[in-house]
Amino acid sequence: MEGFLKSNVELDFLVSKLVLQIEQEQSLSQTAKNALQLKFLSQKQIIENKDIIDNIPNSLKLGMSLEKQLVTFTFADIVERTINRSSVDPFIIEIGSGKGYLSRVLSNYYKKKTFCVDLNKERLKSNLRINRLVQEDSNMEVLTRLNKKALISSNMAVFHKSLGTESDFKLILKASRDFFKIRECINKTLFQVTIVGLHLCGDLPYTVLDQVAKNRLESERNNVHEESVDVCNVILVPCCPDKITLFPKSAKVRFFMQDEFAGKHIAADLFDGCITTPINIIDLYLYAIELCFRHVEIVYVNSGRFALIASI
Ligand SMILES: C[S@@+](CC[C@H](N)C(=O)[O-])C[C@H]1O[C@@H](n2cnc3c(N)ncnc32)[C@H](O)[C@@H]1O
Repeated sequence: MEGFLKSNVELDFLVSKLVLQIEQEQSLSQTAKNALQLKFLSQKQIIENKDIIDNIPNSLKLGMSLEKQLVTFTFADIVERTINRSSVDPFIIEIGSGKGYLSRVLSNYYKKKTFCVDLNKERLKSNLRINRLVQEDSNMEVLTRLNKKALISSNMAVFHKSLGTESDFKLILKASRDFFKIRECINKTLFQVTIVGLHLCGDLPYTVLDQVAKNRLESERNNVHEESVDVCNVILVPCCPDKITLFPKSAKVRFFMQDEFAGKHIAADLFDGCITTPINIIDLYLYAIELCFRHVEIVYVNSGRFALIASI
Protein backbone atom coordinates (compact mmCIF):
# COMPACT_ATOMS: atom_id res chain seq x y z
CA MET A 1 0.00 0.00 0.00
CA GLU A 2 2.06 2.93 -1.33
CA GLY A 3 1.20 6.55 -0.55
CA PHE A 4 2.38 9.80 0.98
CA LEU A 5 2.53 11.29 4.43
CA LYS A 6 0.87 14.58 3.67
CA SER A 7 0.41 16.53 6.88
CA ASN A 8 2.70 17.94 9.53
CA VAL A 9 0.78 15.96 12.14
CA GLU A 10 1.71 12.71 10.38
CA LEU A 11 5.30 13.90 9.99
CA ASP A 12 5.56 14.86 13.69
CA PHE A 13 4.18 11.45 14.56
CA LEU A 14 6.87 9.79 12.43
CA VAL A 15 9.62 11.90 14.07
CA SER A 16 8.42 10.99 17.60
CA LYS A 17 8.33 7.32 16.65
CA LEU A 18 11.84 7.51 15.21
CA VAL A 19 13.20 9.32 18.26
CA LEU A 20 11.77 6.53 20.43
CA GLN A 21 13.29 3.98 18.09
CA ILE A 22 16.74 5.62 18.16
CA GLU A 23 16.54 5.91 21.93
CA GLN A 24 16.04 2.18 22.25
CA GLU A 25 18.77 1.13 19.88
CA GLN A 26 21.35 3.92 19.93
CA SER A 27 22.61 6.27 22.56
CA LEU A 28 20.69 9.44 21.76
CA SER A 29 21.58 12.01 24.40
CA GLN A 30 18.88 13.88 26.30
CA THR A 31 20.09 17.15 24.73
CA ALA A 32 19.71 15.75 21.23
CA LYS A 33 16.29 14.39 22.09
CA ASN A 34 15.17 17.77 23.43
CA ALA A 35 16.65 19.44 20.36
CA LEU A 36 14.64 17.26 18.01
CA GLN A 37 11.49 18.43 19.73
CA LEU A 38 12.41 22.12 19.38
CA LYS A 39 10.76 23.84 16.50
CA PHE A 40 11.11 27.53 17.18
CA LEU A 41 13.86 29.79 18.42
CA SER A 42 12.98 30.89 21.92
CA GLN A 43 14.09 34.10 23.60
CA LYS A 44 16.10 31.96 26.02
CA GLN A 45 18.28 30.60 23.23
CA ILE A 46 19.02 34.09 21.91
CA ILE A 47 20.17 35.15 25.36
CA GLU A 48 22.20 31.97 25.87
CA ASN A 49 24.17 32.64 22.73
CA LYS A 50 24.57 36.38 23.10
CA ASP A 51 28.02 35.98 24.70
CA ILE A 52 29.32 34.31 21.56
CA ILE A 53 28.12 37.22 19.43
CA ASP A 54 29.61 39.80 21.78
CA ASN A 55 33.02 38.12 21.72
CA ILE A 56 33.36 38.16 17.92
CA PRO A 57 35.02 41.29 16.45
CA ASN A 58 32.68 43.54 14.45
CA SER A 59 34.77 43.17 11.28
CA LEU A 60 33.73 39.48 11.16
CA LYS A 61 30.03 40.38 11.36
CA LEU A 62 30.08 42.36 8.11
CA GLY A 63 26.85 41.85 6.12
CA MET A 64 25.32 39.41 8.61
CA SER A 65 21.81 39.58 10.05
CA LEU A 66 21.33 38.79 13.75
CA GLU A 67 19.99 35.34 12.84
CA LYS A 68 22.99 34.65 10.57
CA GLN A 69 25.33 35.66 13.41
CA LEU A 70 23.49 33.45 15.91
CA VAL A 71 23.74 30.41 13.66
CA THR A 72 27.25 31.00 12.29
CA PHE A 73 28.99 31.88 15.56
CA THR A 74 27.26 29.11 17.53
CA PHE A 75 28.24 26.63 14.82
CA ALA A 76 31.85 27.92 14.80
CA ASP A 77 31.94 27.39 18.57
CA ILE A 78 30.68 23.80 18.11
CA VAL A 79 33.47 23.24 15.54
CA GLU A 80 36.10 24.68 17.89
CA ARG A 81 34.93 22.48 20.79
CA THR A 82 34.82 19.35 18.63
CA ILE A 83 38.38 19.92 17.39
CA ASN A 84 39.64 20.53 20.92
CA ARG A 85 37.78 17.50 22.28
CA SER A 86 39.25 15.19 19.63
CA SER A 87 42.75 16.72 19.90
CA VAL A 88 43.30 16.86 16.14
CA ASP A 89 45.20 19.39 13.99
CA PRO A 90 43.57 22.82 13.60
CA PHE A 91 42.92 22.22 9.88
CA ILE A 92 39.46 22.68 8.38
CA ILE A 93 37.91 22.06 4.97
CA GLU A 94 34.66 23.97 4.57
CA ILE A 95 32.38 22.57 1.85
CA GLY A 96 29.86 25.02 0.35
CA SER A 97 31.55 27.97 2.06
CA GLY A 98 29.54 30.56 0.07
CA LYS A 99 30.56 34.11 0.93
CA GLY A 100 32.72 32.80 3.77
CA TYR A 101 30.98 34.09 6.91
CA LEU A 102 31.90 30.91 8.79
CA SER A 103 35.40 30.46 7.36
CA ARG A 104 36.43 33.99 8.29
CA VAL A 105 35.45 33.35 11.91
CA LEU A 106 37.21 29.97 11.94
CA SER A 107 40.41 31.32 10.39
CA ASN A 108 40.63 34.78 11.95
CA TYR A 109 39.00 34.32 15.35
CA TYR A 110 39.60 30.63 16.12
CA LYS A 111 42.95 30.61 14.23
CA LYS A 112 42.23 27.47 12.20
CA LYS A 113 43.79 27.01 8.78
CA THR A 114 40.60 26.92 6.68
CA PHE A 115 40.27 25.61 3.12
CA CYS A 116 37.01 26.84 1.54
CA VAL A 117 35.38 24.90 -1.30
CA ASP A 118 32.47 26.18 -3.37
CA LEU A 119 31.14 25.71 -6.87
CA ASN A 120 30.22 29.39 -7.10
CA LYS A 121 33.17 31.55 -8.21
CA GLU A 122 31.49 34.86 -7.36
CA ARG A 123 30.88 33.82 -3.76
CA LEU A 124 34.52 32.71 -3.41
CA LYS A 125 35.65 36.08 -4.76
CA SER A 126 33.41 37.90 -2.30
CA ASN A 127 34.85 35.76 0.51
CA LEU A 128 38.41 36.71 -0.48
CA ARG A 129 37.55 40.38 -0.87
CA ILE A 130 36.05 40.61 2.62
CA ASN A 131 38.83 38.55 4.15
CA ARG A 132 41.39 40.93 2.70
CA LEU A 133 39.50 43.86 4.26
CA VAL A 134 39.60 42.08 7.61
CA GLN A 135 43.33 41.49 7.18
CA GLU A 136 43.90 45.15 6.40
CA ASP A 137 42.61 45.93 9.88
CA SER A 138 45.68 44.18 11.24
CA ASN A 139 48.06 45.17 8.40
CA MET A 140 48.51 41.53 7.41
CA GLU A 141 47.08 41.44 3.90
CA VAL A 142 48.51 38.66 1.72
CA LEU A 143 47.12 36.96 -1.37
CA THR A 144 48.96 34.12 -3.10
CA ARG A 145 48.09 31.53 -5.67
CA LEU A 146 48.16 27.90 -4.51
CA ASN A 147 47.29 26.45 -7.93
CA LYS A 148 45.07 27.22 -10.93
CA LYS A 149 41.87 26.96 -8.92
CA ALA A 150 42.95 28.02 -5.43
CA LEU A 151 43.99 31.30 -3.85
CA ILE A 152 45.35 31.89 -0.38
CA SER A 153 44.50 34.85 1.80
CA SER A 154 46.43 34.62 5.05
CA ASN A 155 45.13 31.67 7.15
CA MET A 156 42.45 30.81 4.58
CA ALA A 157 42.34 29.46 1.01
CA VAL A 158 39.48 29.34 -1.49
CA PHE A 159 39.11 26.51 -4.00
CA HIS A 160 36.67 26.54 -6.91
CA LYS A 161 35.19 23.04 -7.12
CA SER A 162 31.88 21.24 -7.07
CA LEU A 163 31.83 18.18 -4.82
CA GLY A 164 29.93 15.26 -6.31
CA THR A 165 32.11 12.30 -7.16
CA GLU A 166 34.96 10.39 -5.55
CA SER A 167 37.50 12.06 -7.87
CA ASP A 168 36.19 15.54 -6.87
CA PHE A 169 36.72 14.61 -3.25
CA LYS A 170 40.24 13.33 -3.89
CA LEU A 171 41.12 16.56 -5.73
CA ILE A 172 39.80 18.63 -2.81
CA LEU A 173 41.86 16.62 -0.30
CA LYS A 174 44.99 16.92 -2.44
CA ALA A 175 44.65 20.70 -2.91
CA SER A 176 43.88 21.19 0.78
CA ARG A 177 46.99 19.23 1.75
CA ASP A 178 49.15 21.59 -0.33
CA PHE A 179 47.64 24.47 1.61
CA PHE A 180 47.90 22.86 5.08
CA LYS A 181 51.57 22.03 4.43
CA ILE A 182 52.52 25.70 4.15
CA ARG A 183 54.62 26.83 7.11
CA GLU A 184 54.32 23.40 8.79
CA CYS A 185 57.31 21.34 9.84
CA ILE A 186 58.89 19.65 6.82
CA ASN A 187 58.62 16.22 8.52
CA LYS A 188 54.87 16.49 8.93
CA THR A 189 53.24 13.96 6.60
CA LEU A 190 49.82 13.38 8.15
CA PHE A 191 47.32 16.25 8.16
CA GLN A 192 44.32 15.65 10.42
CA VAL A 193 41.33 17.53 9.11
CA THR A 194 37.80 18.42 10.19
CA ILE A 195 35.28 18.84 7.38
CA VAL A 196 32.54 21.36 8.04
CA GLY A 197 29.48 22.50 6.10
CA LEU A 198 26.91 25.07 7.17
CA HIS A 199 23.58 25.09 5.33
CA LEU A 200 24.39 22.30 2.93
CA CYS A 201 21.41 21.99 0.62
CA GLY A 202 19.49 18.83 -0.22
CA ASP A 203 21.66 15.78 -0.87
CA LEU A 204 25.07 17.40 -0.24
CA PRO A 205 25.39 16.24 3.42
CA TYR A 206 24.85 12.63 2.25
CA THR A 207 27.52 13.10 -0.45
CA VAL A 208 30.02 14.37 2.14
CA LEU A 209 29.37 11.43 4.49
CA ASP A 210 29.61 8.94 1.59
CA GLN A 211 32.90 10.33 0.31
CA VAL A 212 34.53 10.54 3.74
CA ALA A 213 33.55 6.94 4.54
CA LYS A 214 34.73 5.69 1.13
CA ASN A 215 38.03 7.53 1.45
CA ARG A 216 38.62 6.09 4.91
CA LEU A 217 37.98 2.54 3.68
CA GLU A 218 40.34 3.02 0.78
CA SER A 219 43.17 4.43 2.88
CA GLU A 220 42.77 1.59 5.40
CA ARG A 221 42.90 -0.97 2.58
CA ASN A 222 45.93 0.64 0.96
CA ASN A 223 47.63 1.38 4.26
CA VAL A 224 48.63 4.83 3.01
CA HIS A 225 51.94 6.04 4.35
CA GLU A 226 52.90 8.93 2.10
CA GLU A 227 51.74 12.49 2.78
CA SER A 228 48.02 12.31 3.39
CA VAL A 229 44.97 14.12 4.67
CA ASP A 230 43.16 12.21 7.37
CA VAL A 231 39.54 13.30 7.85
CA CYS A 232 38.81 12.89 11.57
CA ASN A 233 35.55 14.80 12.07
CA VAL A 234 32.62 15.82 9.90
CA ILE A 235 30.32 18.57 11.22
CA LEU A 236 27.35 19.45 9.04
CA VAL A 237 24.19 21.55 9.18
CA PRO A 238 21.77 20.42 6.46
CA CYS A 239 19.25 22.74 4.86
CA CYS A 240 16.60 22.87 2.11
CA PRO A 241 15.02 19.44 2.77
CA ASP A 242 12.68 20.05 -0.20
CA LYS A 243 15.72 19.55 -2.49
CA ILE A 244 16.59 16.11 -1.10
CA THR A 245 16.20 13.29 -3.60
CA LEU A 246 17.90 10.56 -1.58
CA PHE A 247 15.69 10.52 1.55
CA PRO A 248 15.55 8.20 3.36
CA LYS A 249 19.13 7.04 2.96
CA SER A 250 19.36 5.21 6.26
CA ALA A 251 18.39 1.55 6.03
CA LYS A 252 16.87 1.83 9.49
CA VAL A 253 14.56 4.71 8.55
CA ARG A 254 13.61 2.92 5.34
CA PHE A 255 12.83 -0.27 7.18
CA PHE A 256 10.93 1.56 9.88
CA MET A 257 8.82 3.52 7.39
CA GLN A 258 8.00 0.34 5.55
CA ASP A 259 7.04 -1.39 8.74
CA GLU A 260 5.09 1.33 10.53
CA PHE A 261 3.85 3.41 7.65
CA ALA A 262 3.14 0.76 5.04
CA GLY A 263 5.92 2.01 2.78
CA LYS A 264 4.52 5.54 2.51
CA HIS A 265 6.86 8.29 1.31
CA ILE A 266 6.99 11.82 2.65
CA ALA A 267 5.28 14.29 0.33
CA ALA A 268 8.05 16.64 -0.89
CA ASP A 269 5.83 19.73 -0.55
CA LEU A 270 5.72 19.16 3.23
CA PHE A 271 9.28 20.53 3.24
CA ASP A 272 8.59 23.56 1.03
CA GLY A 273 10.15 26.65 2.58
CA CYS A 274 11.66 24.66 5.50
CA ILE A 275 15.27 25.49 6.39
CA THR A 276 15.71 22.20 8.14
CA THR A 277 13.66 19.41 9.65
CA PRO A 278 14.28 16.86 12.40
CA ILE A 279 13.49 13.97 10.07
CA ASN A 280 16.42 14.93 7.86
CA ILE A 281 18.93 15.13 10.72
CA ILE A 282 17.64 11.80 12.14
CA ASP A 283 18.17 10.13 8.77
CA LEU A 284 21.70 11.60 8.50
CA TYR A 285 22.48 10.51 12.07
CA LEU A 286 21.40 6.91 11.45
CA TYR A 287 23.10 6.84 8.04
CA ALA A 288 26.41 8.00 9.58
CA ILE A 289 26.15 5.18 12.14
CA GLU A 290 25.50 2.69 9.34
CA LEU A 291 28.58 4.01 7.52
CA CYS A 292 30.60 3.10 10.64
CA PHE A 293 31.50 6.56 11.91
CA ARG A 294 32.72 5.98 15.44
CA HIS A 295 31.07 8.78 17.36
CA VAL A 296 27.87 10.30 15.99
CA GLU A 297 25.90 13.07 17.64
CA ILE A 298 23.06 15.50 16.94
CA VAL A 299 23.52 18.98 18.37
CA TYR A 300 21.04 21.83 18.34
CA VAL A 301 22.73 24.92 16.88
CA ASN A 302 20.29 27.81 16.84
CA SER A 303 17.31 29.23 14.99
CA GLY A 304 15.91 25.77 14.26
CA ARG A 305 19.17 24.39 12.81
CA PHE A 306 20.69 21.06 13.84
CA ALA A 307 24.27 19.93 13.38
CA LEU A 308 25.45 16.40 12.84
CA ILE A 309 28.84 15.61 14.35
CA ALA A 310 30.38 12.38 13.03
CA SER A 311 33.89 11.36 14.01
CA ILE A 312 35.97 8.54 12.68
C1 LIG B 1 23.00 27.72 1.24
S1 LIG B 1 24.61 28.17 0.71
C2 LIG B 1 25.45 28.21 2.24
C3 LIG B 1 26.65 29.10 2.24
C4 LIG B 1 27.39 29.21 3.57
N1 LIG B 1 27.84 27.94 4.06
C5 LIG B 1 26.54 29.92 4.60
O1 LIG B 1 25.99 29.28 5.51
O2 LIG B 1 26.43 31.15 4.45
C6 LIG B 1 25.22 26.68 -0.03
C7 LIG B 1 26.53 26.86 -0.75
O3 LIG B 1 26.97 25.58 -1.20
C8 LIG B 1 27.47 25.71 -2.52
N2 LIG B 1 27.34 24.38 -3.13
C9 LIG B 1 26.19 23.74 -3.46
N3 LIG B 1 26.45 22.53 -3.95
C10 LIG B 1 27.80 22.37 -3.95
C11 LIG B 1 28.69 21.34 -4.32
N4 LIG B 1 28.22 20.19 -4.82
N5 LIG B 1 30.02 21.52 -4.17
C12 LIG B 1 30.50 22.69 -3.65
N6 LIG B 1 29.70 23.71 -3.27
C13 LIG B 1 28.37 23.56 -3.40
C14 LIG B 1 26.64 26.79 -3.15
O4 LIG B 1 27.30 27.41 -4.24
C15 LIG B 1 26.44 27.75 -1.97
O5 LIG B 1 27.44 28.74 -1.91
